[in-house]
Amino acid sequence: MQLALSTWQEVEDALRKSDGIIIPIGSVEQHGPNGLIGTDHLCAEVVAKGVGDATGCLVAPTLAYGMSQHHLGFTGSATLRPSTLMLVVRDVVQSLAVHGLRKFFFINGHGGNVATVTAAFDELYALKSLGQLDPAVRCRMTFWSGGPRGKALADELYAGVNGNHATAAEVSLAQYYQPEAIKHAQMTPKVAPTAPQFFEAADYRARFPDGRIGSDPSQSSPVHGKRLYDAAVADMVDAYEAFLAY
Ligand code: NI
Repeated sequence: MQLALSTWQEVEDALRKSDGIIIPIGSVEQHGPNGLIGTDHLCAEVVAKGVGDATGCLVAPTLAYGMSQHHLGFTGSATLRPSTLMLVVRDVVQSLAVHGLRKFFFINGHGGNVATVTAAFDELYALKSLGQLDPAVRCRMTFWSGGPRGKALADELYAGVNGNHATAAEVSLAQYYQPEAIKHAQMTPKVAPTAPQFFEAADYRARFPDGRIGSDPSQSSPVHGKRLYDAAVADMVDAYEAFLAY
């Protein structure tokens, strides 16, 4: 049940059955030569919608922009500063909590969001302790690709070359979701370089010239994407139900 496609009366009815909601979150950033700028939020969104279809739970509109400062060396990338993203997460959770929502399950598509969103959760918990937010509010964030089925399938499909950014798996899932936007590109080297650390955008661009890290997304396909979608939805249904019951 998508919040954006519901009336307020329908949301009231839904709240009588559950106080949980799923919030997809991603980024607007480069994903290499054949990956879409929206890859991270498209992946989070399609999986979140799938969980909504499977369980009937509420799914909030996607938080498309994320913390992507390290991608600003590539055209089309945009970032929220960490301080901005923390305020966005806090305001969305606080607003929805006014209406009785208590369990906020973020399905994430972007590693760069983790530190900031985790800090935003701590801000919210501080508000609880200060008496400014309902004590029953709980938040969790998990990667759409982080469950056991999704991990096993990515290993099976792309052993050793799924990579860390512009991964073969996320490019495949986005191809499944948006088949009319599939891109083809030559990539050299075939498997992108890796590095133990990178810093700001200029350093990232110097280390990873075409944007990829450790991946070979030339292997991506919408057929793989469908399989990854099914695996991720099953994983996230389990994770969401465990969160509600925790
Ligand atoms: Ni990504």
